[in-house]
Amino acid sequence: AIERTLSIIKPDATKRNLTGKINAKFEEAGLRIVAQKRIHLSAKQAGQFYAEHAERGFYGELCEFMASEPVVVQVLEGEGAILKNREVMGATNPANAAEGTIRKEFALSVGENSVHGSDSPESAAREISFYFSGLELVG
Ligand code: CMP
Repeated sequence: AIERTLSIIKPDATKRNLTGKINAKFEEAGLRIVAQKRIHLSAKQAGQFYAEHAERGFYGELCEFMASEPVVVQVLEGEGAILKNREVMGATNPANAAEGTIRKEFALSVGENSVHGSDSPESAAREISFYFSGLELVG
């Protein structure tokens, strides 16, 4: 089925001017960027977005990192987009990421791992509506 998923190009990647190279990976995989904007999150906003991780030891560090530089938030659309995007990103820890994936090529560490992608249809719906209104999704 055609799906939509929420993607974030994280501060380590925007800082190193990798937005275009990362978007090329999505487009080469057949994912369409149907919404995209550059924003600078506050640590509080990052905390709301990552609320499911609030009890984890890395939560504070994660929120500070996500607020450290601008991010690019985007909606990717395509056949099986949620799983496809996770394949294009590669494993969360770049040490475990497969050859050719975004995290293998660009990520610096498990925290500074260049991209985020929704992990299920339920999170995709929540995460897309966290950043975008319906009017901003242009299929
Ligand atoms: P993401 O897919 O954005 O979802 C939660 C993020 O937490 C994850 O990517 C990682 O970047 C980050 N994360 C996971 N484990 C750790 C860790 N041990 N230390 C720092 N950040 C982590």
